Amino acid sequence: MLIDGQKRTAIWPDPEDQGVYIIDQTRLPHVVANVLLRDLDDAARAIKNMLVRGAPLIGVTAAYGLALALRADPSDASMAQAAEVLRATRPTAVNLAWALARMTGFLQPMPDELRRDAAFAFAKHLLEKDVACNSAIGDHGLALIRALSEKRGGAPVRILTHCNAGWLATVDWGTATAPIYKAQEAGIPVHVFVDETRPRNQGASLTAFELGQQKVPHTLIVDNAGGHLMQRGEIDMAIVGADRIAANGDVCNKIGTYLKALAARDCGLPFYVAAPVSTLDFALAEGGLIPIEERAPEEVTFMPGVAGNGEVVSVRIAPKDTPARNPAFDVTPARLVSGIITEKGVFDASREGLAGLA
Ligand code: MRU
Repeated sequence: MLIDGQKRTAIWPDPEDQGVYIIDQTRLPHVVANVLLRDLDDAARAIKNMLVRGAPLIGVTAAYGLALALRADPSDASMAQAAEVLRATRPTAVNLAWALARMTGFLQPMPDELRRDAAFAFAKHLLEKDVACNSAIGDHGLALIRALSEKRGGAPVRILTHCNAGWLATVDWGTATAPIYKAQEAGIPVHVFVDETRPRNQGASLTAFELGQQKVPHTLIVDNAGGHLMQRGEIDMAIVGADRIAANGDVCNKIGTYLKALAARDCGLPFYVAAPVSTLDFALAEGGLIPIEERAPEEVTFMPGVAGNGEVVSVRIAPKDTPARNPAFDVTPARLVSGIITEKGVFDASREGLAGLA
């Protein structure tokens, strides 16, 4: 999608073959800085410290991390160790383990001397597949927005989204945002309500940034405002992303998603989850088994932002030494999900509904 009118993706291989480039998302929206990942440690650090984040983008970055490790040492031992290092960076998004399993499954049978080039080629294949999946998610989700637009007589469809499941969380298009961008392309008016998404504010800093760059009409709201707006009839639907979906359709996504799904159900509004099939984890029977990342309490007690002088700073918003908990994800039970928008179509969030995708 666009930054300053230029077509960009969230990750791209270095044309000079030194590694892979990412945009440092910890500095957005204040600074757009490209960072070259040159080795396994760079890739692992970028995922762990959230220079890249979002389930599909974590997966593609991990694939390149493995390729970078094999460039230094293509042996079986090196591949196993690199996969372990990358797998340990973040626990919740299953796309990370999925991408590593695809990479190692493809490379394992190969002789060492072929692995270097093959690993980069396969990582590029995963990158391109991600773009195609998200574009297809957009096409399937567009049909849902189009139906609501007709119901509203062409007035803007008001869509609430949580966190950033936009192009910055994938390679391009995003998952939750793909139907929105496709609606814009199709000339269907939309208005997006963007949850700020405390504590890391991916909605405020990333989704609002993306939508602004793309000129999609949007309004930033605090996390607690969504229920109120739904109750007042100011929201038509919610579309969110997912980090992992269990076999029974329970959806794990950024903390706070569950509360929005509860409010949507109470208000009789459709609540859709957009995710590629690689986010489905058929090994887990239900959402309670999904590992939930707990992050540093300082993310709750401090708030980053840009000061009057343009400097990016972090300020404390709680009394010194206040104890804080910071679970980064929650699980929305399948019964609250209207449907899962995948690249293969829209499916019921249930064991039976998803079974055909296994
Ligand atoms: O902690 P993050 O920023 O990696 O969390 C991102 C989300 O929760 C997204 O909604 C999810 O990964 C889907 S991204 C298409």
